[in-house]
Amino acid sequence: MSQVRFMFGRLLLLSFLAFSVNTRAAENSCISCHQRSDYFAQYPKLHEYYQQFLASPHKLAGVTCDDCHGGNARAESVELAHVGVLPMNNKNSAVHYQKQPETCGQCHDDKRRQFLKSKHYAALMDQRAAPTCTTCHPAMSRRPELRSIVVNACRNCHGEGNSENLPLIADQAARVFNQLNIAGGLLGWTKIHYESHGWPLDSRDRVRELDERYNTIVNRVHQFDLEETEEVTVEILGELREIFREVQQAYQQQAEGS
Ligand code: HEC
Ligand code: HEC
Ligand code: HEC
Ligand code: HEC
Ligand code: HEC
Repeated sequence: MSQVRFMFGRLLLLSFLAFSVNTRAAENSCISCHQRSDYFAQYPKLHEYYQQFLASPHKLAGVTCDDCHGGNARAESVELAHVGVLPMNNKNSAVHYQKQPETCGQCHDDKRRQFLKSKHYAALMDQRAAPTCTTCHPAMSRRPELRSIVVNACRNCHGEGNSENLPLIADQAARVFNQLNIAGGLLGWTKIHYESHGWPLDSRDRVRELDERYNTIVNRVHQFDLEETEEVTVEILGELREIFREVQQAYQQQAEGS
């Protein structure tokens, strides 16, 4: 029950965030204290964390420190604000590597649920060297390019000569994620372009359907079935090309007819 209330609270919070980012940030004691410029000299590491955080997607979305670290963002003093904020290597910390799927999953539940089905998750809970959310998505800094996820995460564990004899899937992952990236970019461009120029033919419904498939596959990436990811991505790219081709033809016929 309390879990349900908690989740509901999160949902309310999220919709609230969308409208009142600025007021909320101003009232948040974690931020008002951690942004202090004198920390640059006093707590250089802390200062750097804060500076990096400024470029993160979470900062842009109005997500605040307490959303991930816990603590009391209305308390002014360090001691009271930090109740429940634990160092990340403490097993009970909300940002401990084994707790991250739960903490991040409060807002990214669709990713969490897929991740829980992966061998990575099983290995992680089994104390093996396996990736957790921030291995691939540094929550405290700028969103990385997909390419660098492969270099910095996949290749580290799955590269040649790895000590655990894990499958050598890094090159495959680079290819598959590159295609996924292109599909995402092309879909985004298509939506913006057709929205401002008027949706030709039946493209609106077809693009919407492709968009849903794209979102589903980005969630399912977290099961790390590269074959499936590639198959669906190639389908999406093929159908987008087909739409472009038909639209092009229709324009040509129109031009010839007039
Ligand atoms: C009045 C100032 C102040 C407030 C308010 C404050 N902090 Fe801190 N925080 C600090 C200082 C100073 C440190 C470094 C020294 C320490 O750990 O006490 C720190 C350290 C931390 C650390 C590193 C912990 C560790 O053990 O390595 C985290 C995480 C953190 N704060 C999160 C938060 C969150 C989340 C909030 C709001 C709920 C918050 N802080 C509110 C001043 C503050
Ligand atoms: C989206 C979740 C998220 C938000 C928002 C967030 N953090 Fe973090 N933070 C993490 C995670 C996860 C880690 C541990 C892994 C890492 O370093 O990426 C971490 C690590 C840290 C550390 C090092 C902790 C340690 O024990 O050494 C500090 C300090 C910190 N965060 C402070 C902050 C402050 C201050 C804010 C707000 C300005 C903030 N964080 C916002 C998720 C978040
Ligand atoms: C309080 C809710 C909340 C929590 C907790 C949270 N996030 Fe987020 N996250 C968001 C919002 C809101 C966005 C921006 C909108 C979006 O893209 O979904 C975002 C964006 C992201 C993005 C970039 C998405 C994009 O399309 O650019 C990643 C990656 C991400 N979060 C990972 C994490 C990880 C990893 C953690 C845990 C350490 C975490 N999040 C915790 C709410 C949250
Ligand atoms: C082993 C690497 C890896 C792990 C672990 C991982 N992800 Fe991802 N995640 C990816 C890849 C690859 C994508 C899809 C490509 C993309 O669009 O960035 C992705 C996409 C996302 C997105 C969509 C935003 C975006 O940047 O497009 C979010 C949000 C996200 N993951 C959150 C999480 C959360 C929360 C966890 C932990 C439960 C997690 N991820 C664990 C690799 C990972
Ligand atoms: C910190 C180390 C680590 C990182 C980083 C990592 N993996 Fe893994 N991966 C593992 C481990 C451990 C297993 C083995 C799980 C098992 O078989 O029990 C595994 C298994 C796999 C498998 C095989 C699953 C199967 O069905 O046999 C695939 C595919 C995979 N990882 C893809 C990736 C991709 C793609 C990335 C980067 C986005 C990545 N991994 C990043 C440690 C890692």
